[in-house]
Amino acid sequence: MKSPSKFRIHRITQGALLLSALLCEATGPPGPVLPSLGTAASFNVFAANSITSLAPFALGNVGLYDSDSSSFSYTQLGTTVPFTKDASGKFGNQFLSATCFSTDLSSPTPSILGNAAADFQAAFDNATALTQSRIMNLGNGQIGGQALTPGLYHWPGNVVAATNFTAVGGPADTWIFQINGDLTIRPNVTFLGKGGAIPQNILWAVSGDVNVGSRATLQGLLLSENDIMFGDRSQHLGLILSMNSVSFGVDAFHNSIIL
Ligand SMILES: *[C@@H]1O[C@H](CO)[C@@H](O)[C@H](O)[C@H]1NC(C)=O
Ligand SMILES: *[C@@H]1O[C@H](CO)[C@@H](O)[C@H](O)[C@H]1NC(C)=O
Ligand SMILES: *[C@@H]1O[C@H](CO)[C@@H](O)[C@H](O)[C@H]1NC(C)=O
Repeated sequence: MKSPSKFRIHRITQGALLLSALLCEATGPPGPVLPSLGTAASFNVFAANSITSLAPFALGNVGLYDSDSSSFSYTQLGTTVPFTKDASGKFGNQFLSATCFSTDLSSPTPSILGNAAADFQAAFDNATALTQSRIMNLGNGQIGGQALTPGLYHWPGNVVAATNFTAVGGPADTWIFQINGDLTIRPNVTFLGKGGAIPQNILWAVSGDVNVGSRATLQGLLLSENDIMFGDRSQHLGLILSMNSVSFGVDAFHNSIIL
């Protein structure tokens, strides 16, 4: 029997190497393991001190974890719409497709809020503690025009997007953005996931403020130690968690995602 020639074996090995290289290229690096948001993930918008909205924005649960219901304000067409509280320890009104929780409501609401706040803090601390394979200070904080591959990114100061940018990767890939300053998305600037990237797998951990300009679009799990502000007609897909306050401008649109 004729044994395969050295040449053929070489060709087969080469083929296998080429195939595995192609597969690696196609799947790409998967990115960091995202910290769990724990029970904080059951809130669509979660803030310590106040939530102000000029738009019908929220589906699902909205929580104020360090304040009473007077720190939630909702204005429709220039008129502040009052809330009614119900016996179950939640409040809302006819225009707002959301259920609101705050510390002054009846048990077990305060402990639900307290647990979620602790989970939020743990997730933030874990996200900012990661250091493995960190990509440092990309673009010196100017992220406009970037196509961000999966990974852990760190910026020591402010990050500004003045032009459109994307996260490029598959549905299993992950991104963590550690920002040790403010995150500013300029008006009309769009950030989208491409190639199947999903907002559930994109986590922003921002020490300063998040400022999304008018008509700008942002995606992902948005965690800030400070204020999160959405301009008029801005859009967001994901979850919003702030250790201070959250505000939405006129017709700002926010949609939750189910984790
Ligand atoms: C945070 O990290 C610690 C230590 O690695 C781990 O035990 C804990 O489960 C993590 N928590 C979250 C919310 O990821
Ligand atoms: C944003 O886009 C709108 C509508 O296209 C336009 O009217 C506005 O001038 C733009 N704003 C900026 C700051 O570019
Ligand atoms: C930014 O993205 C938006 C939405 O996809 C698009 O309408 C706009 O033309 C883009 N702007 C630039 C400068 O490419």
